Amino acid sequence: MKLTHEEITRFDERGYLFRPSCFSPEEVAVLRQAADEVYAMDRKEVWRESSGVARTAFAAHTYHEAFRRLGRHPRLIEPVMQLVGGPVYMHQYKVNAKAAFDGEIWQWHQDFGTWHRDDEMPEPRAMNIAVFLDEVTAANGPLIFLPKSHKQGVFEAGHDLETTTYPLWTLDRATVTRLAEQGGCVAPTGPAGSMIVFASTLVHASAPNISPMNRSIVYLSLCHVDNHISRFKRPEWVAHRDFRPIEPLADDCLADLADPLRGTGNGSPPVHGVDRGQPRFRCAESPGDRTGGRPAA
Ligand code: SIN
Ligand code: MN
Repeated sequence: MKLTHEEITRFDERGYLFRPSCFSPEEVAVLRQAADEVYAMDRKEVWRESSGVARTAFAAHTYHEAFRRLGRHPRLIEPVMQLVGGPVYMHQYKVNAKAAFDGEIWQWHQDFGTWHRDDEMPEPRAMNIAVFLDEVTAANGPLIFLPKSHKQGVFEAGHDLETTTYPLWTLDRATVTRLAEQGGCVAPTGPAGSMIVFASTLVHASAPNISPMNRSIVYLSLCHVDNHISRFKRPEWVAHRDFRPIEPLADDCLADLADPLRGTGNGSPPVHGVDRGQPRFRCAESPGDRTGGRPAA
């Protein structure tokens, strides 16, 4: 599931890459059930919207087996290792619910802006890789990107502690408008199981979900092991401190959970140097995902 030369070029130009249907319906069903299980947990890592529904389950890879496996899945880890040029550790892990009717806004921001200011991550040698657990449509609060905004460093931002329950370093409207005039504004949509990798400096946001459809997305924030954080202001379960490189599991590690009787034991790391076998499930071809227009002047 390595990225092609063309995909790497596209990622470099726009700051993100969309691969539809990277996980099978069976694999998605395992993760969707896992998400409902963690949203129902009464734990400090599960943050809620003002209405009480789950907003974000942090660090779910440390307390749910399906998310542990997803956090070491080769379809996610290997492309990111390719893009950052070496081994990666897990800086942050979020399962974002964006629940039907109640899912609130994520304001315009750059993730690296937060990681740099709050956690002292030295360089943007880190990125997010997201997996859709529901179909993401124009209606249920998709991620919105400003393509090409990842090439302009870290923007001025204000620390917003009030708009939602999650503090964010947010960009002002003039900056967002200027960037959208330069590169447009897009919202990649697609079936559950689709994947998006995006640069940690890419400016992004998402609107509230007023629709009756849930929109869960899991985010792995992966950082090159040489670029780890050095400030431990935020809790360990928000900004992790285990800087050891992630060893990917076998490609069927999630499918194994869907079908326990098949039980090949692939939740264990592969023996070093032994072929992990051909993936049983391949991503679909990427369609043209540039769906956005230009902002009003
Ligand atoms: C994020 O920006 O980290 C999350 C946005 C979303 O899930 O809509
Ligand atoms: Mn973000």
